Amino acid sequence: MKNLRQLSLLFLLFIAIFFQVLHGFSYRANAAAAAAAAATTANATDFIRECCKTTLYCELCYNSLAGYSTSVQKNPVRLTSIAVNVSLTRAKRMEAYFFNISRQVELHAADPRAASALLDCCTLFDDAVHLIRDSLKQMGRLKGSGEALRFQISNIQTWMSAALTNEDTCTDGFDDVPEGTMKTDVCDKVVIAKQMTSNALAFVNRYMLPRY
Ligand SMILES: *[C@@H]1O[C@H](CO)[C@@H](O)[C@H](O)[C@H]1NC(C)=O
Ligand SMILES: *[C@@H]1O[C@H](CO)[C@@H](O)[C@H](O)[C@H]1NC(C)=O
Ligand SMILES: *[C@@H]1O[C@H](CO)[C@@H](O)[C@H](O)[C@H]1NC(C)=O
Repeated sequence: MKNLRQLSLLFLLFIAIFFQVLHGFSYRANAAAAAAAAATTANATDFIRECCKTTLYCELCYNSLAGYSTSVQKNPVRLTSIAVNVSLTRAKRMEAYFFNISRQVELHAADPRAASALLDCCTLFDDAVHLIRDSLKQMGRLKGSGEALRFQISNIQTWMSAALTNEDTCTDGFDDVPEGTMKTDVCDKVVIAKQMTSNALAFVNRYMLPRY
């Protein structure tokens, strides 16, 4: 009997922790992983560091998100939406960058392949911006439960994956372009955008997919 009481107290304690972590979001996140990270970290900065360790590009993840610790607190869903937003900002900058350089007349004259690859990148990043923006909007208005909720979250997954594919395709266009400062500059910049999108997608997969 005494054991049973202890067990139910433990259970209540567990429930209490569980709801504290879930507080502020209306759907099922990966509560177990998030609770573990939240429990073992001293503050929001540590929490972000722990969460970033689960991504492919953890250094970049931490460096780009640590500045948001005040709004993240130890909330994995806030962290995810901020990561998506940071990746949106980067994709917008890339779009502006490609728009800018694709209009440089001397480039067109120098290498038509480069000019055409740059134009493709404009379109690809424009699409990526829309996809990431839609994901962010959807995250802000998740509602319902069960299948309906799962559908909304799987849309976010699909759109973020598609954005990542677009960013990949942009650099593919440069495969046949001879090496040079412009190509290097493009590839260096795109790789950061890709890694940010990849990290945001990893958080979507880890913290937002309801567990069925
Ligand atoms: C967060 O906690 C770590 C120790 O785990 C500490 O080194 C760091 O200074 C803390 N940061 C803040 C902002 O309190
Ligand atoms: C995304 O970030 C921008 C600033 O970079 C901010 O103005 C905007 O409110 C953020 N959106 C969301 C949904 O957090
Ligand atoms: C556009 O390109 C020019 C020349 O490379 C550069 O000086 C300028 O800063 C660029 N502007 C933007 C908004 O990227």
